[in-house]
Amino acid sequence: MNLEEAKKRITELSAELMQHNYNYYILSQPSISDFDFDHLLKELEQLEKSFPEFALPNSPTQQVGGDITKNFVQVKHKYPMLSLGNTYSQDELQEFDDRIRKTIGNDFGYVCELKFDGLAISITYEKGVLVRAVTRGDGVQGDELTNNVKTIRSIPQQLKGNFPPSFEIRGEIFMHRKTFERLNNELKKELLDQGVDEDKIAERLYKNPRNFASGSLKMQDSKAVAKRSLDAFLYFVYSDETLCATHAESLKLAESWGFQVSDHFKVCQNITEVMAFINKYEKERNQLSYEIDGVVIKVNEYRHQKELGFTAKVPRWAISYKYKAETAISKLKEVTFQVGRTGAITPVANLVPVQLAGTTVKRASLYNADEIERLDLYEYDTVFVEKGGEIIPKITGVDVSKRDLFARKIEYITHCPECKTLLIRKEGEAIHYCPNDSHCAPQLIGRMEHFISRRAMNIEGLGGETVAGLFHKGLIRSYADLYELTYEQLNGLEFESEEDLEGKKKKRSIKEKGADNIIKGIEASKAIPFERVLFSLGIRMIGETVAKKLAQHFGTIEKLMAASVEELSDINEIGGKIAENLVKFFADADNVNLVMKLKNHGLIMEVVYDPNEVRSNKFEGQTFLVSGSFSISRDDLKKLIERNGGKNVGSISKSLNYLIAGDKMGPEKLKKATDLGIRMISEDEFMGLL
Ligand code: IVH
Repeated sequence: MNLEEAKKRITELSAELMQHNYNYYILSQPSISDFDFDHLLKELEQLEKSFPEFALPNSPTQQVGGDITKNFVQVKHKYPMLSLGNTYSQDELQEFDDRIRKTIGNDFGYVCELKFDGLAISITYEKGVLVRAVTRGDGVQGDELTNNVKTIRSIPQQLKGNFPPSFEIRGEIFMHRKTFERLNNELKKELLDQGVDEDKIAERLYKNPRNFASGSLKMQDSKAVAKRSLDAFLYFVYSDETLCATHAESLKLAESWGFQVSDHFKVCQNITEVMAFINKYEKERNQLSYEIDGVVIKVNEYRHQKELGFTAKVPRWAISYKYKAETAISKLKEVTFQVGRTGAITPVANLVPVQLAGTTVKRASLYNADEIERLDLYEYDTVFVEKGGEIIPKITGVDVSKRDLFARKIEYITHCPECKTLLIRKEGEAIHYCPNDSHCAPQLIGRMEHFISRRAMNIEGLGGETVAGLFHKGLIRSYADLYELTYEQLNGLEFESEEDLEGKKKKRSIKEKGADNIIKGIEASKAIPFERVLFSLGIRMIGETVAKKLAQHFGTIEKLMAASVEELSDINEIGGKIAENLVKFFADADNVNLVMKLKNHGLIMEVVYDPNEVRSNKFEGQTFLVSGSFSISRDDLKKLIERNGGKNVGSISKSLNYLIAGDKMGPEKLKKATDLGIRMISEDEFMGLL
């Protein structure tokens, strides 16, 4: 990135983020997901780091106060936050027990606790009030996340009972499985709404509850953290004074002060009891509402802990036993191929149903052709299935010894299973695509989903599933068909949802109210401004920003349709590829037809300036004088100035920033303005500034 590009991007990002902040805090109408906000903020931070000379003094990255905190402050831990030695083997656990007995003899107990799969946190309380919460970080110092941690309901801000005046308590912040699924589904919907490619969505979703919890906790905005419904278990008290003699007692004490301590812990008298605890929870872990990845075993008596002490890295008095990812064995029935909304092909292994980590698994993703090759998969193979940190199970290996003598190797398809078009695979990419974007059913449905989405035509009452249902029922083939739907057609309509990765289909039907909402939503979409209609058309490479640029530049769809590649690529920010795509799109008679049909249905195909709309603070501190006559009324023009932060003045003076000159402007004004060197602009130029 060169200097000019960096400067431009920094200015752009700053303006965009400021607008989002304004929408969020002032209008209470967030226009972007927290996730995307954080993403943009991070991009800006990086750029400002590399090009500090371009950082705005009031950059959104510097904003403190309100609910936004700058990067987190690093705080040194009073007691270092060590990790634990860990093992996957019960033999090693026996060795751990032997070592301990050698040092402290046989008169002691163990406390077994679950090893919660989340984020370690250390919280300081002074006089019963939560004063500081710090992540583990590198063990010596971590991020201070006090405000974010305060949003977690199970962490008390004010203690009750008989607590010591000053102490630290440590525990794990986590997200319940159900919350994870709900929020990830919401995030997915939001990304689809924003027109993110389906095959890019998986990358943007959180892989497991732990990732989601940690991503949430590190957000800059505590209000957004509060929405993530995080939870916490506390498991260790640090205090300079002696509060009790054993770890188990300290857990009870912490509970009495108002902390959430897990019920699933046990004082064990020997290592046999410890192993029984481990085995019990290995079986029962799937019934817990949150994920655990093992069991933590701690020597119960503090005096013994003290005697055992620490190695350089870990305490000698504790260890964690980690569970291996569960594996199941199943048999491959067949490999099917799904076509995504962008034409991306996903191979899916259909398996003989098998129980794994609490659910029945029938299918596993095979990702792409390379993965099938890597597994060297044959028909009817016996396969190992694992649920790693991820929700969708995967095949980790094949038991070749069980392979059928006459089984054939799995061949990747060459043609689209939906429309039979020859598939393509772009250079350097792992995924195959169906290039038939204008006639392949799932791709048409995908475009329809984009069309109705919140950022596009925002057709309320209509969701992706219903659109797919209407498509399969033959009621809609193009966007224009939406505007011909009737209440009678919709009311009582029954359809099946599409298969999910588990192979489940659900029966759906549209009721009276639903039908009414759809019709109303479609009607309301006729008020969507031109730039968004243009974005909704789903023309390749025409995202929101480009659509806005084009709408402002051309003003009407007719002018845009008539533009040549040269004319288009002359516009700032419109590259040659975009220009070519546009020209190609409008060269197709079907598309022109579609646009005209939409126009006839009443969709807005030209820029309409609404003087009542609040727009920006673009003209803050600047003065304008409006003189002459314009295509809109002078009052409307003045409103536009005000709504964008500018000030209208009645006469020309040295301090005037702009004179907007219309037709028939008086000659005296012209002379005075010229003498004083005032910047004169036309109506068009003014709109351009907007
Ligand atoms: S005790 C010195 N108890 O596991 C004692 N840790 O690998 C330190 N963890 O960083 C920790 N559940 O994030 C303890 N019941 C539990 C735990 C637990 C999860 C995590 C914790 C720690 C890591 C150590």
